[in-house]
Amino acid sequence: MDKIVIEGGRPLKGTVEISGAKNACLPILAATLLTDEKSVISNIPSLKDMSTMLKILKNLGARVEQKGDEIIVEPKGYKNYIAPYELVSTMRASICVLGPLLAKQRRAEVSYPGGCTIGSRPIDLHLKGIRALGADIKIERGYIVADGKRLHGGSVYLGGHFGSSVLATDNTMMAATLVKGVTVIENAACEPEVVDLADFLVKMGARIKGQGTSRIIIEGVKKLHGAEHSVIPDRIEAGTYMIAAAITKGDIILKHARLEHMVAVVDKLFEAGLEVTKVHGGLRAKYARRIKPMDITTLQYPGFPTDMQAQFMSLMAVTGGISVITEKIYPERFIHISEMNRMGADILLEGPNAIVKGVKHLSGAPVMASDLRASAALVLAGLVAKGRTDVRRIYHLDRGYEKLEAKFSSLGAKIHREKDKQA
Ligand code: EPZ
Repeated sequence: MDKIVIEGGRPLKGTVEISGAKNACLPILAATLLTDEKSVISNIPSLKDMSTMLKILKNLGARVEQKGDEIIVEPKGYKNYIAPYELVSTMRASICVLGPLLAKQRRAEVSYPGGCTIGSRPIDLHLKGIRALGADIKIERGYIVADGKRLHGGSVYLGGHFGSSVLATDNTMMAATLVKGVTVIENAACEPEVVDLADFLVKMGARIKGQGTSRIIIEGVKKLHGAEHSVIPDRIEAGTYMIAAAITKGDIILKHARLEHMVAVVDKLFEAGLEVTKVHGGLRAKYARRIKPMDITTLQYPGFPTDMQAQFMSLMAVTGGISVITEKIYPERFIHISEMNRMGADILLEGPNAIVKGVKHLSGAPVMASDLRASAALVLAGLVAKGRTDVRRIYHLDRGYEKLEAKFSSLGAKIHREKDKQA
């Protein structure tokens, strides 16, 4: 196993290229299964999660070819409809092949995804969505076994205890594209990645309206064709580098970042004192004045994203004053607190609220990554801590951040990857 070693204390300056959005790529790659024809998806980041999704597509019988950041998928004549445990268990987002398989093969067997360190990750809304389309579902041998012999359009409300669901919206929308009749999804997720998926589906010939709003209407068609699509930039990666500028008192240009995808994050950082401006082809994040403590509550889009919560906590940990961070999407998503406190942070967890008392400085230490975004938060803390920080188990990071240490090095950080001899 590898670890990332950081010597903190350097302001980061320069330009970083924001990669394609992991959370748009995964459902879009799954959507290629809705046709026998070839699709070409570009701006795909080289991440562990991508290779897992490609393994699933190949396992189903699709021909997959990768040329740089472009992936060609040709599912011609694939008949398999099983997404196996050994693949799905490594990436729970694999659940997004459920909708396409059901629509195209009229049956699907997808391993029931487990929970992870950020929460139990239920899938009741996914099942509710495809049941509304007439699917007959059983849970057998740890698999979701779905029979789609009698699929039809339907209306479904996809609001759960924690609001809308991104991948349940994706699954239901994808399944509805090839189903006779009109489907209405109420309380649909509005994330930019859902819109990007819908844009790809429309290019394939799907009839979809309302993407980006809480009501999406899909009119089923007989057949979809292959399409070409370039994936939107990753707003969470962009937000992470924006916080890197604030926490290291730096000045970073984020190439390809789109303000319209990250209004809540930019609004909060701007209020905190970070100067965020539009520049040609991206955004610029410049430390201009002392950062102020800010309270945040994570909400479904367009609210403050849960995927930015840990990173924001790193910034508040070294910001003078007290800030309250409330997690409304994944109430257990606070594993990073104990690791940050080992670096000298002063954070207290009270139910779904983290009370962060800013400290003068953090001190570098060996810390353990636990999930993708918590790992990024520990890297951010290491960039500003006094001394050396070793972030261990960084396979979590490799799932969602392309060339992380190279990008930070190019901005002036003292950071490298090495073998973790204690692992
Ligand atoms: C997507 O996960 C993202 N992953 C997550 O990013 C992100 O944190 C999440 O959306 C919320 O924005 C991908 O897109 C691959 P949800 P998803 O269904 O779709 C509950 C990252 O770091 N829920 O929108 O699985 C759920 O427990 C990852 O990149 C149900 O109750 O999340 C959560 O509390 C982490 N029943 C809330 O809804 C369901 O059937 C939102 O989850 C489904 C979800």
